[in-house]
Amino acid sequence: MDLVPVELYYEEFGQGVPVILLHGFPLNHTIWMPVVERLQSHVRVITPDLRGHGKSPATDGDYSMRLMAEDIHALMNRLDIPKAVLVGHSMAGYASLAFARAYPGRLAGLAMVASQAEADTPEKRQARYITAEEVGRKGVRRVAKSMLPKLTPRKELAADLLEIMLKTPKKGVVGALKGMGERPDALEWLTEIEVPVVVIAGEQDVIIPLERARTMAQMLRRGWLVEIPEAAHMPMLEAPQTVADAIRQLVDLAEV
Ligand code: MLT
Repeated sequence: MDLVPVELYYEEFGQGVPVILLHGFPLNHTIWMPVVERLQSHVRVITPDLRGHGKSPATDGDYSMRLMAEDIHALMNRLDIPKAVLVGHSMAGYASLAFARAYPGRLAGLAMVASQAEADTPEKRQARYITAEEVGRKGVRRVAKSMLPKLTPRKELAADLLEIMLKTPKKGVVGALKGMGERPDALEWLTEIEVPVVVIAGEQDVIIPLERARTMAQMLRRGWLVEIPEAAHMPMLEAPQTVADAIRQLVDLAEV
């Protein structure tokens, strides 16, 4: 497998323990701003755009989770960060698990936000390939519109989220869909993670069932669960204070 990293676009705030906030599919770093505002006077916050999203390069081909992990690793090298706390939202949680497996010595702590360790079912994988093909032909509008109500029931967040999704390049959406579809099951990997891990889940999430979060928290050696009743798939926007508090607790335990 060819793992050639790209130079990710990123923004940076504050000083202290490096905390890298990674957005999900098909979004960009701006979703983290309410959490950045609450963290930046305590830690060094870095918010990249993943490959094919936001202002980062959109390459051809499938974006495997391992490849996305390579991009994050390259960013840490570029910023001279030996160890970081990774906060992975949904797809970025999948990429963070790939990072934890490839570079355990570079991980100080992990937050899995609205994410899971399980691979796709064959039906889900198939559906992703069909969607990828459709995006390739018709563009991102349909997938963005169908995803919007699943992200959050909060109407006041809809316009911004739609705008972000519509800005994601076609290549990025297709590459990420295929990459997510081919990701391996990472449940067993959880037992190998030695650093503290907080699992943050919105009780109203219709994309990732709450059960998946509970399973992760049980399998992790040093894991704990933060369930947020008022959140769905976007806890960083729906309950930013709770998310920021959970990340600060993780940073206190992190092994930097
Ligand atoms: C995400 O929010 O990153 C994706 O919807 C996750 C997924 O489709 O599995």
